[in-house]
Amino acid sequence: MKPIRSAGLLRRVIGISAAALLAMSASAALASPFPKGNAAAGKKLHDPRCMSCHNSMFPDKNGTQLYSDDMFRKATNGAQLRGMIEFCNNRTQSGWFEEEIQHVGRYLNDNYYKFTK
Ligand code: HEC
Repeated sequence: MKPIRSAGLLRRVIGISAAALLAMSASAALASPFPKGNAAAGKKLHDPRCMSCHNSMFPDKNGTQLYSDDMFRKATNGAQLRGMIEFCNNRTQSGWFEEEIQHVGRYLNDNYYKFTK
């Protein structure tokens, strides 16, 4: 009983790390202006702090247009996106440091801006 269970566990651990390796090589292939960021961590930081104010700027309450729609978005490269994240970070006194800025930048860039530099 015991050896079978641990073999299954071992296989599951190997399966997960193979998937993680694949994901890592895939993301390394795509250049990002936020190479140290983690998009999922960025979403967790971004949504509670940043969404409601951006949503309130639009009649349909969809603040993501600020990032996705050429009518509204101003950033044209990673450095400008970073500048806007820092600007809103300072203004909201979120107190984010480099690590958090990388996460949020990665999240916004992977999902909306798609800048490669
Ligand atoms: C109190 C309201 C408010 C909050 C809270 C806020 N923002 Fe903003 N944000 C704005 C406004 C207003 C603009 C548009 C500024 C402009 O176009 O000059 C903007 C623009 C941006 C842009 C630039 C979009 C573009 O490409 O032009 C980014 C990126 C951004 N905000 C990120 C954030 C992040 C990250 C947070 C959370 C830390 C945040 N914002 C919180 C009001 C807010």
